[in-house]
Amino acid sequence: MATDTEFGEVDLAKMTSLIGHEIRNPLAVISNSIYYIKNKVEAAQSKDEKVAKHIRIIESEVQRANSILKEVSLFFKLKELATKAAALDGFMEELLAAHAFPDGIAVKKSLQSKATVSIDPAQLQRAVEAVLQNAVDALPSGGTVTVGAKTEKGQAVVEIADSGPGFTPEATVKAFTPFFTTKERRMGLGLATVRRIMTLHQGKAEVRKSSAGAVVRLTLTPA
Ligand SMILES: Nc1ncnc2c1ncn2[C@@H]1O[C@H](COP(=O)(O)OP(=O)(O)OP(=O)(O)O)[C@@H](O)[C@H]1O
Ligand SMILES: [Mg+2]
Repeated sequence: MATDTEFGEVDLAKMTSLIGHEIRNPLAVISNSIYYIKNKVEAAQSKDEKVAKHIRIIESEVQRANSILKEVSLFFKLKELATKAAALDGFMEELLAAHAFPDGIAVKKSLQSKATVSIDPAQLQRAVEAVLQNAVDALPSGGTVTVGAKTEKGQAVVEIADSGPGFTPEATVKAFTPFFTTKERRMGLGLATVRRIMTLHQGKAEVRKSSAGAVVRLTLTPA
């Protein structure tokens, strides 16, 4: 909930959901119309590559606009967790087995926390995947992602490191700020969502730059 002197109390979750709804409707209309045009063009067996190209652009931009709305609304809607006890190492093992890394990325893992944690598996998965996505983004020409789980001073810790350039000094400070991004055409909601998910778990999310690249540390209190 944010407070603003001019507009009174603004419920961001509600506002996002209202705007999302209003924008999703015209997007659905655009989708239907472009589907109609595409069928007509295909039926006419047009060889005009430019028309086909612009149809693809409209389709992919509509998809992008829809996924932005989804990302923003998920961020503001996230309020409660559905937790259960889970073995952290097994959870990470499964997540990594199901995660598709692009070619050129080597994954090293060391899952030895032996901790049982109280987690919302779907949300923690979302958080870890956002961190893995950032690691992959940081390695456009390939590299190594190292995933560790350990118990340290009674806390269960997941550490994800990559061999990319690491956080810039500015990103180290602002990484968790909603809408902070240094990437083209991205929302900057990944790590803000990660922090929110970890806070809801009564845990922590931290970033640092190591000599080898970026390190993201997620801390949970064992159940
Ligand atoms: N592994 C990393 N290495 C270097 N910089 C990083 C790394 N992860 C995050 N950052 C920096 O932190 C910023 C914020 O990350 P965040 O995940 O919140 O947003 P994003 O990746 O830019 O966009 P989105 O996640 O919404 O697609 C990034 O733009 C980048 O500058
Ligand atoms: Mg990201």
